[in-house]
Amino acid sequence: IETLLADATLKGLKALVTSGPTFEPIDPVRYIANRSSGKQGHAIAAALARMGAETTLVSGPTRLPDPPGVTTRHIETAAEMLAACEAALPVDVGVFAAAVADWKVARPANQKIKKDDSGRTPALELAANPDILQSMSHAGARRPKLVIGFAAETENLIAFAKAKLEKKGCDWILANDVSPDRGTFGGDRNTIHLVTQANSEDWPDLSKLEVADRLGRRIAAHFGRVHA
Ligand code: CTP
Ligand code: CA
Repeated sequence: IETLLADATLKGLKALVTSGPTFEPIDPVRYIANRSSGKQGHAIAAALARMGAETTLVSGPTRLPDPPGVTTRHIETAAEMLAACEAALPVDVGVFAAAVADWKVARPANQKIKKDDSGRTPALELAANPDILQSMSHAGARRPKLVIGFAAETENLIAFAKAKLEKKGCDWILANDVSPDRGTFGGDRNTIHLVTQANSEDWPDLSKLEVADRLGRRIAAHFGRVHA
């Protein structure tokens, strides 16, 4: 529901957002992927655009429409997502919300893998994918001025998020609890903890649209655009 009005709070700033899963091919008809609806990333891209930022969304396959006012690049693999992100630089702020597959299939088959009558099953050899958040955090002069990642954890939420922030070299992490009793996967709500180098801030349970709006206002405050 588009209840939020457009404004010029982030006018003159460029934003890059990733969203959705990546698909890593096994063969021409099969892939491995992460669970991700793309709802949170798409909502963030829409919110930043609505606040006046020139926004590029790099998205894996989702069921969502392209957000209005956003330049959307559609990709499938993590390697393609990284290339599209690099092409979008320089930007002022990067929000990396995609559920990137940590591994790809080392050697995808060129033809559909067929069952045979021997009963043998194929074994998949995996290889590491690039870490887009980490790579963007270490992009030197082209690094976004503010780099924001997500951390979905099932335990030790704040401590794991802080460790992730340090390891990846990003500025903020939006940590959310995905333990089974909270179960926000694919849903419309998120309980976020904004973790920075210095501290962490607990947000109330919010809709993904409200999370996007609140993040947009925090970004604006960071760039001295409004009082938080
Ligand atoms: N991320 C990324 N590229 C990857 C893996 C993760 O850009 N290849 C980003 C995600 O978009 C997210 C953040 O890194 O913003 C954390 O992702 P997450 O899967 O929670 O962390 P990992 O470092 O992959 O660690 P693990 O899955 O082992 O918890
Ligand atoms: Ca991961």
